[in-house]
Amino acid sequence: MKPLRALLAAAALALLAAALWWRKNPSACPYGQRFWVEAPHPIITRERLRGVLEPVPGERVLEVGPGTGYYTLDVADWVAPGGEVEILDVQQEMLDHTMRRAAERGSPAIAATLADATAMPFEDDSFDAAYLVTVLGEIPDQDAALRELARVLRPGGRLVVGELMGDPHYVGIKGMRLRAAGAGVEFERRSGNALGFFARFSKPA
Ligand SMILES: C[S@@+](CC[C@H](N)C(=O)[O-])C[C@H]1O[C@@H](n2cnc3c(N)ncnc32)[C@H](O)[C@@H]1O
Repeated sequence: MKPLRALLAAAALALLAAALWWRKNPSACPYGQRFWVEAPHPIITRERLRGVLEPVPGERVLEVGPGTGYYTLDVADWVAPGGEVEILDVQQEMLDHTMRRAAERGSPAIAATLADATAMPFEDDSFDAAYLVTVLGEIPDQDAALRELARVLRPGGRLVVGELMGDPHYVGIKGMRLRAAGAGVEFERRSGNALGFFARFSKPA
């Protein structure tokens, strides 16, 4: 029994060390570990995102870091008819996976772009809203990503950032608000709590 306990303790310590290392050295969650993003997202549910993002038919919405599309297909339904969801990711496999799911479901109007959040190939003021969920902490230069998001949003456009405790790259609300203010977007409200939340910001009109 004792060796088993020691083995379990060593495994837990190794996991913790790996999580701490990954937090200090942020990088994109590899496609091979997509089971994390396919698991249910407690607290930061799709319906909660809808309540905070407030998408309406006809809008052009940007999703940074869709993973395998946990939120994408629903958001595409909410902006139909006439709207569009643009997904942007650094991993082609994530984009392909989401586009396959969209095709299977017959989701209209989803377009994919392979790019980094810190250098987006979009015009200024080109989106009504943007969101990213459990993504910000994976980006080594969070300030640059937030500046890009502010740039591509139209004046008055909404930005929603989602975070879930337990993610090694969890970003707390205080630091997020400071960074967002520096990037030129104003904090409006938070839905959820420290365990999981969506924070809504807006670009001054
Ligand atoms: C943990 S997954 C989250 C997926 C999805 N948002 C969800 O909640 O299920 C993070 C996603 O962000 C993407 N990502 C990480 N860094 C990025 C960057 N610098 N630019 C664009 N996408 C990035 C990853 O490739 C991955 O698809």
